[in-house]
Amino acid sequence: MSEQQTLSRFLEDQKEEVERRLPGYVAHLDSPEVLVSAMRYSLEAGGKRLRPILLLATLEGYGVSLEKGYDTACAIEMVHTYSLIHDDLPAMDNDDMRRGKPTNHIIYGEAMAILAGDALLTQSFEIISKSAYLNDSEKAKLILHLAQAAGPKGMVGGQVADMEAEKKSGLEVSDLEYIHHHKTGDLLAFAIEAGAIIASADEEECLLLRRFAKNLGLAFQIKDDILDVEGDAEEMGKPAGSDETNGKTTYPKLLGMEGAKEKLDMHIQNAKEYLLQIKKDHKLLHELTRYVAERTR
Ligand code: IPE
Ligand code: IPE
Ligand code: MG
Ligand code: MG
Ligand code: MG
Repeated sequence: MSEQQTLSRFLEDQKEEVERRLPGYVAHLDSPEVLVSAMRYSLEAGGKRLRPILLLATLEGYGVSLEKGYDTACAIEMVHTYSLIHDDLPAMDNDDMRRGKPTNHIIYGEAMAILAGDALLTQSFEIISKSAYLNDSEKAKLILHLAQAAGPKGMVGGQVADMEAEKKSGLEVSDLEYIHHHKTGDLLAFAIEAGAIIASADEEECLLLRRFAKNLGLAFQIKDDILDVEGDAEEMGKPAGSDETNGKTTYPKLLGMEGAKEKLDMHIQNAKEYLLQIKKDHKLLHELTRYVAERTR
C-alpha cells in the first residue's frame, strides 16, 4: 500500500470508529429529550472528523494503543461541534447549512442551539475526566490545555476578534494571523498536543509538534478562506461566499487568491519541516499535512 492509501484507509477507518462512538457519550444523558436531540443532530451530521483523526494519528505515530485516545478525541469533536453551532447563529455568521444539513438553529431555534452548544462544551470536560484509559496526571494536563485552547485566550478569543474585525478596515496580515491562529488553530493544535500528552512524548518532541501544529492550524483556516471563494457548497456541506456576505477580511481578500495560496504553501512547508525534525517518523501526520493543503471540503 502506498502512503497515500495508508492515510485514506486510516482516515476512513477512524472516521467510522469515532462516529460509532460519538452517540454513546450523549445518547443516555438524563437530560431533556429536546436537548439530547439537538446535541445529536449536529454531532451526528458528519464532518471530516479531522481533529479526532489528528489526535489518533499522533498516537499511532508513537505506537500507542488508539483505545487510550478515543475519549479525548471524541471530546475534542464535541467542542468543535459546539463551536460550529454557535458560529452559524444569526448573531454570528448567520449561515443556514452545515455538514450538508440545515444548521442547528434552523431546526431547533436559537435558544436550543445556544444551549446544545453549551451542553456539548461542558460534556466534553466530563468525558475526559471520566476516561478509564487515562491517569489523573494525564487528565489534568488534557483538561487544562483543552480549556486554554477553547477559552478566552484561544478559540473564543479568536471568534471575538473575528467578529470585531467585521467592523474594521485596514486589517493587516498580522491581525488576520491572530484571528486564524486562535479561532481555528488552537483547537486543531490541541488535538495533536493531546496525542503527545497521551503518548508521553518528551519535551523536545512536544515543542516541535506544537510548532508543526501551529503552522498546520493556520494553513487549515487559510484553506477554509480559499474554499469559501472557490469551493463547491454541495461538496463542502456549507454555503460558499459566506465571508464576502459578512464582510470578513480573509487571506484571499487581503492578499489576493495567489497571495493566499502562497501563504498556504508557506505554512504547509513550515509544518513539514518541523515534522521532519522529530525523531519519530510521523508518516500519517505527514500525509495529513498534504491533505489539509489539497482538500476540497
Ligand atoms: C470548519 O471546520 C470550521 C473551521 C474551523 C474552519 P471543519 O472544516 O473541520 O468542519 P467539519 O468538522 O469537517 O464539518
Ligand atoms: C470558524 O471559522 C471557526 C470556528 C467555528 C471556531 P469560519 O466561520 O470561517 O468557519 P466556517 O467557514 O463557517 O466553517
Ligand atoms: Mg465564523
Ligand atoms: Mg462561519
Ligand atoms: Mg470559513
